[in-house]
Amino acid sequence: MSANKIKTGFETLRWRDGRLEMIDQRALPSEVNYLPYTSAAETAAGIRDMVVRGAPAIGCAAAYGIALEALQLRKHSAEEFNAGLEAAFATLAASRPTAVNLFWALERMREHWQSAAAAAPATIAFRLLAAAQAIHKADIAANRRMGEFGAALLADGARVLTHCNAGALATAGHGTALGVIRSAVEAGKSISVFADETRPFLQGARLTAWELMEDDIAVTLIADNAAAFLMSRGEIDAVIVGADRIAANGDVANKIGTYGVAVVAHRHGIPFYVAAPLSTIDAGIASGADIPIEERNASEVTGYGNLRWAPAGVNVRNPVFDVTPAELVTAIITERGVIHAPDASKLRSHLAA
Ligand code: MRU
Repeated sequence: MSANKIKTGFETLRWRDGRLEMIDQRALPSEVNYLPYTSAAETAAGIRDMVVRGAPAIGCAAAYGIALEALQLRKHSAEEFNAGLEAAFATLAASRPTAVNLFWALERMREHWQSAAAAAPATIAFRLLAAAQAIHKADIAANRRMGEFGAALLADGARVLTHCNAGALATAGHGTALGVIRSAVEAGKSISVFADETRPFLQGARLTAWELMEDDIAVTLIADNAAAFLMSRGEIDAVIVGADRIAANGDVANKIGTYGVAVVAHRHGIPFYVAAPLSTIDAGIASGADIPIEERNASEVTGYGNLRWAPAGVNVRNPVFDVTPAELVTAIITERGVIHAPDASKLRSHLAA
C-alpha cells in the first residue's frame, strides 16, 4: 500500500473578488460553471434551487450569505444594518428545512454578530466575513479528521456502496462519506465504490460518479434498485453515507432511499456507516420522528430537466429525505472519533468530550 495524496480539482464554494462563487451543481457533470452571489437573498435562492446542496455545503453558503448582506449594508445606519441583517437570517433560514448545518451555521454567525454588536456596521461586516471563512476552513479540516477515523474502518480491497452525494461537492471540500473513501485511498488502500444513482435528483449519478472519476477513484454507477441485489450476492463489503441531521438518539436523516439501503445492509450483515461532522448532530431533537422532512416539487419525480415521462396531472409525493433508526447504524464517524452502535447516551458523551 502506498500513500497517494488526492488533490481535488474543483471548489464547491469560493470567495473571489468580494463575492461568493458556487459551482452550479445542477449543471454537473455536463458543465463546470461557477455562479456569483452578492446578497443573502441570492444565496438563499442558490440553496433552494440546488445550485449548492449537501448539508455542510449549505451551512457554509448560508454563512457567506450573511457576510454578503452585512457587506452590502455596511455603510448604512446601525438601525438599517440591524434590520437588514435580521431579514437576511430569516430568508436564509427559510431556504431548506432538513439539513441542520444550515441552522448551525446561522447560529454561529448570529453569535459573531452579537459579540461585535457595539462595533460600527463595517467592522461587524468584515468580522462576519472572517467568521464565514473560518466555518468554510473548519469544515474541510473536520472532513479530513473524519476521513482518518473512517478510513481505518475500511479494509484494503473494500467494495463500498454510497447513496446520494456526500462528497467534496456536499461540503467545503474532501467530503464526509466520500472523504472517508478519499482518505482510505490516500492511505494506500484499494477501494472501489458503488454509487446509487439516487432518484429523483440523481446526486449519485451526476455528482458522486463525476467527483470520484475526477479523482481517479474506481466507481461503478448502479440504479438504486440494484443495491439490494448486489448486497445479496456478496458484492458489497460496507455502506457509507452522509447525514443531514442526526437526532440525539442517533437516528439519521439523509437522502431519500438511505433507510431502505440500511435495512437491506442489516439483512445481509453489511456494516452501515454514517460520516457527519458534529455540526450535523442536533442535540435538541430527541428522535428522528421530530426531524422536519423536506418535500420538493412533483416535477423532480415526473421527469428530469425538460423531459417528462409521467402522465400530466398524476398525483406525486416527493419527500427528499428519510430517517434511518440508530439501531441500523453500525457506527457514526465524526471529526471527534467513531461512535459504535450509537444511542442517546453515547452521543451525549461524544458531544461532551
Ligand atoms: O438534497 P441534497 O442533495 O442536499 O441532500 C444531500 C444529502 O442527503 C447528503 O447525503 C447529506 O447532505 C450529507 S452531505 C455531506
